[in-house]
Amino acid sequence: MTIKEQILNILESAKGSFVSGEEIAEILSVSRNAVWKGINSLKADGHIITAVTNKGYCLSENSSIFTAQSVYANLSSALREKLVISVVPEVGSTNTELKALAEKGGADGTVLIAVSQTAGRGRLGRSFYSPKDTGLYMSVLLRPDFSASEALNITACAAVSAARAIDKAADAETQIKWVNDIYLDGKKVCGILTEASIDFESGGLNYAVLGIGINLNTEVFPDELKNVAACVSADKTDLRPFVAAEFLRNFFGYYNNLSEREFLSEYRSRSLLTGKEITFVRGNDAFNGTVTGIDDEMRLVVTLADGKEASFSSGEVQLVKGDLVK
Ligand code: BTN
Repeated sequence: MTIKEQILNILESAKGSFVSGEEIAEILSVSRNAVWKGINSLKADGHIITAVTNKGYCLSENSSIFTAQSVYANLSSALREKLVISVVPEVGSTNTELKALAEKGGADGTVLIAVSQTAGRGRLGRSFYSPKDTGLYMSVLLRPDFSASEALNITACAAVSAARAIDKAADAETQIKWVNDIYLDGKKVCGILTEASIDFESGGLNYAVLGIGINLNTEVFPDELKNVAACVSADKTDLRPFVAAEFLRNFFGYYNNLSEREFLSEYRSRSLLTGKEITFVRGNDAFNGTVTGIDDEMRLVVTLADGKEASFSSGEVQLVKGDLVK
């Protein structure tokens, strides 16, 4: 991390209060002049920093440039040490970037966030609309030491973590549409795409890239999404630093004890589909029935029209009577 980034870390952690130049210099073991230079460079980047003699420097509460430091400032020191977070202005897809990095040996805990994506990707080959500044587009590189069959749980605990982060940021009550979409008032506000590379010899994962896209303040959607997608808040406040950190905090809490499935009861209580009539589509087959729940293996349990029970581990719920949950 550069000195400038480290200064920003300190100011972000004390946002709204003064930190003396002497203190910053001491923490970073650099000269007061180096601090002064760093502050000027941060100001030139657009950060609102007040300098007052005998008090030091203060990053204004209204200074809202989205940086990795603004995410770090909301994290515990343990996660600050574990994660290497970057915020970039624009990429095709943060998942694609991190997969390429993973193939070259990129480290566990690398987090890439983009201000916009030009080729954001969703599940089943779909695209993910990722306009500049209004959403959180974030991928996390994981190198788990568990089997590939546990991978579904990465997505499931990410869904609970995203739902929690959104609810806390926007005082909302989100639901999870199996297996990994987050809905607010019947419309999708967040999608998750987990991509993994499997080591066929050991049955373990070489790596997994967890990608999460949240429509935070996106108000205008393309025609094809207008009826199915929504945003978390119409408020213009930048929720990205808080939501990103809150997501990471919740996610790593669950992930570090994934086999305990601590997320499962909350996943179930947030399940949008439980109790609903659905048509489940898997390949060329379609099944009608009522969802009765989610089993311990994260399968969707459905009582079919003929009274038999079926559990689905993959496929798609395409229709729910009376609800737009496509
Ligand atoms: C879906 O809704 O089907 C999943 C959407 C996942 C979108 C996120 S945004 C960050 C990451 N990069 C991508 O290209 N996709 C994921």
